[in-house]
Parts: sequence; structure tokens; C-alpha cells
Amino acid sequence: MTNIGSYDERVKNFSWSIAEKELDYKDGDILNIGWYCSDRICNMGKAGKTAMIWEGLGGKEKQYTFNDVRLHSNTIGHFLRSLGINNSDRVCLFMDKLPELYLGVLGILKIGAVAQPLFSAFGDESLFVRLENAGTKAIITQKKHAGKVQKILDRLPNLEHIIIVDYDGKKPLREKEIAFSLEDSKPVEKLDIYPTKAESHSLLHYTSGTTGQPKGVKHVHYSLISQYLTTKWVLDLQEDDIYWCTADPGWVTGTSYGIFGPWSLGVTICVLDTGFSADSWYQFMEKNKVSMWYSAPTAIRSLMKAGDEAVKKYDLSALRHLASVGEPLNAEAVIWSGKVFGKPFLDTYWQTETGSMMLTNFPGMKIKPGSMGKAFPGITAVILDPETFEPITSPNKPGLIAFQPGWPAMMRTYWNNDETYQTKFKNGWYLAGDRSTIDQDGYFWFIGRDDDVINTGGHLISPFEVESALLEHEAVAESAVVAKPDEVNMEVVKAFVTLNPGFQASDVLELKIMNFIRKKLSPLAMPQEIEYLDKLPKTRSGKIMRRLLHAQEWGEEIGDTSTLEDD
Ligand code: WTA
Repeated sequence: MTNIGSYDERVKNFSWSIAEKELDYKDGDILNIGWYCSDRICNMGKAGKTAMIWEGLGGKEKQYTFNDVRLHSNTIGHFLRSLGINNSDRVCLFMDKLPELYLGVLGILKIGAVAQPLFSAFGDESLFVRLENAGTKAIITQKKHAGKVQKILDRLPNLEHIIIVDYDGKKPLREKEIAFSLEDSKPVEKLDIYPTKAESHSLLHYTSGTTGQPKGVKHVHYSLISQYLTTKWVLDLQEDDIYWCTADPGWVTGTSYGIFGPWSLGVTICVLDTGFSADSWYQFMEKNKVSMWYSAPTAIRSLMKAGDEAVKKYDLSALRHLASVGEPLNAEAVIWSGKVFGKPFLDTYWQTETGSMMLTNFPGMKIKPGSMGKAFPGITAVILDPETFEPITSPNKPGLIAFQPGWPAMMRTYWNNDETYQTKFKNGWYLAGDRSTIDQDGYFWFIGRDDDVINTGGHLISPFEVESALLEHEAVAESAVVAKPDEVNMEVVKAFVTLNPGFQASDVLELKIMNFIRKKLSPLAMPQEIEYLDKLPKTRSGKIMRRLLHAQEWGEEIGDTSTLEDD
């Protein structure tokens, strides 16, 4: 029996109050995600149940019960308060998938502060723009990433504390650094949890757009209502499940479904904090008897490449349910997973901005491989005509994916950028910025993004950010960045540049420029290829036409070039 039962029945009788009731929440009550994911589970008699199985490099393992999660998050909350962190202050988490990351998010929320998780592979420039934009007061990090913070510290007047969770005393602490060891701290049995309400700010996740700096997506504690119910009905988590969400909490999947969804249901999660390899993943699943697995298309395609034989070496018989998110899940990957795991990956579609799943395939529903499925109950999803912004009613016609606003986990605004937030709405619809069709049975089929953002392996990269970083390299005069097709990552970053006088195009220079981006932004944003041009295609008004370069990479028709400078 699945948690959702009949999809059609759920749609007919839907109300978010179903989740509110199950969570014992009433309008106007105190609502704190940190408390819901730890104290409440303990109060329900599950204090001794395993909450997290963590594995790091070299097979190092740690386990935590829900009582440990409660105590450790109290301890972190207490420590932050002792440093003067108050409700509403932004606290960044900038570390690998250490236990402190998972426990730290809850600790921050418990004191009413705002958690700002950032992917630890970010270079100093990517880190800087996000910390500056958020006015972050403290950052929790580890030794190996603290150097990046030091590099930008003098440009961040609001940053008061750099908390290092694995300090070993070998080097003296630098400016604003303070050591905090969870293991050596006295557990705090009772913490005054800040009485956050539904609309209190909880998380700030940064996402990339086509133009301008990254946007801080503001979420509130009420998002738990959506995250709880989607986890229950789509991921179908059951009491005895061992659940593995492969996403990093630096991205929204890693918080909404890596922490809040499962822990609010009192379900055991596992975390693997090592790099990717097919063998290490299968081994991890076999060892921990993973039964529910939420992952991403690029990982699935990489596993496909590793071959069927690699799967057969392991006992994965505990697996009963698989789902995917973040980029188009091609039909071959769905069919392949059905063949080798005995279960197809169910595609889910949503965004940092939506906070929770919007379009999904449900357990028990007929799967059409390659389709994103249907709207979650309570979500009104449509395809809009790109000219009129009116819903398209005839099947299989491409249009813009749009949702009727108002589900609990929807972003409340972009941090310090409400102007851009307002541009996301047309005729009362929230525009997701993607294109799709709907077939005669109501299934959504992804077409592509409606902007120039590059989705490489499920990570959104702003061409603008990469172009800006390229311009900082002394050799680069002009730059244009587009997606280029890739077998595993679907898209990778490709840069076109013109050079300043005195610089010669060469392979060595290409490597130097790539390395420059990798350090400044992140390995994800690093162009896989740099093409030298004498000049970039531009409109008459001088705007670089990425569209032309994109079409060239994808072997597409170039389309209207009437505004081109040289035609
Ligand atoms: C894309 C990740 C195709 C889409 C949770 C969306 C998808 C963006 C799918 C959000 C899917 C997400 N099929 N494309 N199932 N899921 N996307 O904010 O372009 O990192 O707008 O959130 O990823 O990425 P974000």
C-alpha cells in the first residue's frame, strides 16, 4: 500500500490542512522546522531511532539517533546564540556533507536565524557575492574551506564569525575565526527554541539567473507543510525505510528532501560524503540496505555508463522506490533503471523557488518514460501561451510552465530583489521559466529552459556570472557563454572569447583561463571548452547574441538574425 493511495482521489479531496493536521499544526501556532525535525520526533517516542547514518572518506562512519539530532542541534543553536547570533540573522553553512551541516541547519533554525547553505566547491568570488548579498553574520565551515573566506573577509563588513568545526590546533586561528567541536561540546539538553511562526524566514538558497548576480530565494518555516506531504506521497517514505537523498544541502533538494522531508516524518537518512563512483554508491546502498533513493539524472546516466555488470556485483534487494530531480530524465534512463534495479526512477520537477515538488510521477501511477508526470495534488499547473500568458488548453502544444501561487513552500521573494520577484508573475501565474507540453492524459513533457541559464548535471549556472569572471582574466577582452551538449551532464559550459592585444590563442592559455574560473567560481562553472573568436556576434545595439552561438553548438536553425550587426 502506498502512502498516496489513489492520485485521483487525493486530487479531488485535497487540502494542505491534511499535512497541518498530521503535524498537529494550527494556523497561528508556533512553527519551527528545527523543532519539528528533532524534538517532535523524540516526543513521539522515537528518540532512540536512528536518524542519520553518515559515511565519510576512508569508510569512516557515524550514526545519530533522533535524540542525538535534538541535542546536537540544541548545542549548535546555543553556541551561535553565545556568539550574539539572533533571530533573522543569516548564518551560512559552507562545508562538505559533514554531520555538522545537517545538524547545523536545524540548530540555526531553532534560534530563529536564517540558514544560508552554500555548496562547498564554490570559489571565493561565488562565495563573496552570496555572502555580501545576504549580509551574512556568521559562517560555519571547515579548515579546508576557511582560506576562501579569509581571502574575501576585508570586503565583508557584516561577517563577524568564521566558525571552524574541525579545528585541530595545528595552525593558529586567523581573524574572526573560532573553533567549535560538536563532539567536545557539552550537549545542551534544553534550548529555548525561538517561537518562529509560519511566515518567519527560514532559509536563503541562492540560484542563478541569466543576468545579474545570483538571487537569494527566501523561504519560510511554513514550507514544511509542502515538504512533509510531498515526501510522504511522492517519495512514499515508510517507518522502516532507509532513505538516501544524494543531493548536497548546498542546493535545495538537499535541504527540502535531504533533511526536512524525511526528518519531519521521523525516517532514517543516510549520507555519503565522498566523491562519485558507481562502485562506492552501490556498495553504500548494499551496506546500509537503502530502500528509497532520490537522485539526479546525471548520476543515473553515469551509473548507466558504468554498465549493468557493476550493479550485479551488489545486493540491492532492499531498494523498493527510486526518484529523480534536477534536469530532464531521459526515457532510456527510466527504462534502464527498471531493467537493472527492478524499479524505474520516477521523475519529479520543481525548483529552488518552488521549495517543494510541483510535477511528479507517483508510486502506483502509470509511468510514461521521459515525462515529468502530473501536478502534485493542490497544485494548479498549466502551460501558458508565450505571447498572451493565457493557459493553452489543447494537448501537445509547447508553452511556458506556470503555477497558481499559494502552495506553502513557495518562495516569498528574492532577498533584497523584490523587483525581480515581481517579474516572475504574469496574469496571476507564477512563471517557472521552463517550457513544456502537456499531453492528452495530463502528463508534462519538458522541452527546455526559457532563458540562457545552463543546467549542467542538475546545477544551474548563470552565463552572466561566468562571462563576468572571464572578463577578469587579463587575456580576455570579450566573452559569451552558452551550453554545449554533453552525453552525461546533458549540458556543459562553453565559452567564446576574444583576446586583448598582446595575447595569443593557445591551448595553454585555454587551460589557464579554465583554471581561473574553477578557482573563482567553482569546478561546475568551469568551461569545458573555450573557443577563440576574432569578434563575437552582436546585435546592432551591441548586445552579445548568445542565441546564435547556442544554435551553432546544438546544430539548430539560427533563426531570425535581422538584428545582427554584420548582416
Ligand atoms: C530544471 C532543483 C527537467 C528546470 C530542484 C528547473 C528539471 C530547474 C527537472 C530548477 C526535471 C528540475 N526535468 N528539468 N524533472 N527538475 N529541472 O532551482 O529547468 O536547482 O527550472 O532546483 O532545474 O533547478 P533548481
